[in-house]
Amino acid sequence: MRPVSVWQWSPWGLLLCLLCSSCLGSPSPSTGPEKKAGSQGLRFRLAGFPRKPYEGRVEIQRAGEWGTICDDDFTLQAAHVLCRELGFTEATGWTHSAKYGPGTGRIWLDNLSCSGTEQSVTECASRGWGNSDCTHDEDAGVICKDQRLPGFSDSNVIEACVRLKGGAHPGEGRVEVLKASTWGTVCDRKWDLHAASVVCRELGFGSAREALSGARMGQGMGAIHLSEVRCSGQELSLWKCPHKNITAEDCSHSQDAGVRCNLPYTGAETRIRLSGGRSQHEGRVEVQIGGPGPLRWGLICGDDWGTLEAMVACRQLGLGYANHGLQETWYWDSGNITEVVMSGVRCTGTELSLDQCAHHGTHITCKRTETRFTAGVICSETASDLLLHSALVQETAYIEDRPLHMLYCAAEENCLASSARSANWPYGHRRLLRFSSQIHNLGRADFRPKAGRHSWVWHECHGHYHSMDIFTHYDILTPNGTKVAEGHKASFCLEDTECQEDVSKRYECANFGEQGITVGCWDLYRHDIDCQWIDITDVKPGNYILQVVINPNFEVAESDFTNNAMKCNCKYDGHRIWVHNCHIGDAFSEEANRRFERYPGQTSNQII
Ligand SMILES: *[C@@H]1O[C@H](CO)[C@@H](O)[C@H](O)[C@H]1NC(C)=O
Ligand SMILES: *[C@@H]1O[C@H](CO)[C@@H](O)[C@H](O)[C@H]1NC(C)=O
Ligand SMILES: *[C@@H]1O[C@H](CO)[C@@H](O)[C@H](O)[C@H]1NC(C)=O
Ligand SMILES: *[C@@H]1O[C@H](CO)[C@@H](O)[C@H](O)[C@H]1NC(C)=O
Repeated sequence: MRPVSVWQWSPWGLLLCLLCSSCLGSPSPSTGPEKKAGSQGLRFRLAGFPRKPYEGRVEIQRAGEWGTICDDDFTLQAAHVLCRELGFTEATGWTHSAKYGPGTGRIWLDNLSCSGTEQSVTECASRGWGNSDCTHDEDAGVICKDQRLPGFSDSNVIEACVRLKGGAHPGEGRVEVLKASTWGTVCDRKWDLHAASVVCRELGFGSAREALSGARMGQGMGAIHLSEVRCSGQELSLWKCPHKNITAEDCSHSQDAGVRCNLPYTGAETRIRLSGGRSQHEGRVEVQIGGPGPLRWGLICGDDWGTLEAMVACRQLGLGYANHGLQETWYWDSGNITEVVMSGVRCTGTELSLDQCAHHGTHITCKRTETRFTAGVICSETASDLLLHSALVQETAYIEDRPLHMLYCAAEENCLASSARSANWPYGHRRLLRFSSQIHNLGRADFRPKAGRHSWVWHECHGHYHSMDIFTHYDILTPNGTKVAEGHKASFCLEDTECQEDVSKRYECANFGEQGITVGCWDLYRHDIDCQWIDITDVKPGNYILQVVINPNFEVAESDFTNNAMKCNCKYDGHRIWVHNCHIGDAFSEEANRRFERYPGQTSNQII
């Protein structure tokens, strides 16, 4: 028994949710052969932050109540059993002392002792359910091997059913809930602090500081799942509060609800600072390092430093999103700190602080160690957020056999597969998969190309300027991810094709106009314009995944990159193509994503 912690709640709920099978109590239909895990009546989930989908604090639901496991006597053998309960083949490690943040509620198991071969955690020895003298500071976690048990049924592995999107700071964002394996938003009608506090607590944060209405954290896309949620504040989940089922007519995404949760002080922002910038929102990044000897400040090597790393630095500083991650900072005054103390930093973009990102150890490897080549950031309270209208891709996809004599301009712009070069021009044709792309900016800042107009490239053939080298990737992939065809990579001309009612257009390509996409507007590339296709002439019949990724190199800052990819199942029989299940990368539950990747092209609902 260790001292009771002052904080009984955890600040780590940001991305609690991953393996959700159902939020409404009933397990969703599972696919494939079922392997029944042994623990009938128990449910398992991985929780906490920061973590990967296969690691985290282990939580068990028993008699409707979620709880944790104390680390006393915990071993790798127990971790093996728990990882199998969670649908993974085995454990590669385990953690103690609430490595992923302390949980809340019951501590279900203490002095858990397993041999490692048990089918179920119920076969392991322990002090008995709920019998523990630990605090949540001793919560155990597991690191499972990133390999799923074959045919494992997820019906007893569940996760929290709420997430926050689009917030500039940890513990804030647009509220999204999971229903029928799809994420959707909450309408702000009757939205108040009680409901917001239920969300914050469900995510492990404690109470809410603010209940936000009117899409203050940006608009979602797709479903709206709940409206008129009325909570007393004591409920364990938003779904337990009385609410209305709504339809698209009842509410719009301009009414999406959001929250700001109270966060305990972690001191992370004191371990990093900016120097040399023109304002407090920009500068060279200085980090504090301890280790042997006294604490000291140092710089970060600029090699490979990019938008994702800058996002984490800005978040850690409490300065919101990153506008830019800079590899060269010579134009900023150099302070008296010149030593490079961190190199090889690689973040996924969701970390709360730089020390959670991968980086080289104490041995610094940096190509250019001068102060002017060290990492810098420009932070911003707002950012754009691009999303592709996935339903439109599905509705508009078709095959065209286009004669080569109509493709000279396209060939010049590199819009055909390489085998087109050896074709017998102008005779014959190319087989093209065509579809419309409608790209919305649902963020809180306009999307602007990184390059200034002086460096835009004039494309004679199509008669407009290209402002970004690579704005989208269009690819056809096999189910195992091998690329078999790709669309053109050159940039488009970015403009506001249309806007929501109350928003006016600002960007227009014609006449060397300013390029960009205004918040609340979209840029449409119709299926019938040149290069808006994937050349599939060389693709053999089979099942594939059609993937579109916007801003793939994170060249321009966005508040959220997890929604930049769109995927569809795609079945090609050599003559026709069926495109279905089109969805944005973060729209499905993990379980539905696995189903999507396991069974590409099994059902078909669109014939082209
Ligand atoms: C539980 O584990 C702790 C830590 O190993 C040990 O000190 C304690 O004696 C154990 N209690 C029981 C009842 O086995
Ligand atoms: C909302 O929809 C669910 C599922 O379709 C249904 O079970 C429930 O009764 C509905 N609730 C209301 C208030 O209409
Ligand atoms: C470096 O600059 C800081 C702040 O300007 C100052 O407090 C400190 O004494 C300086 N250190 C050295 C070694 O000059
Ligand atoms: C992926 O699929 C392609 C074609 O279907 C095949 O040639 C390749 O060997 C596969 N790779 C793996 C790692 O399974």
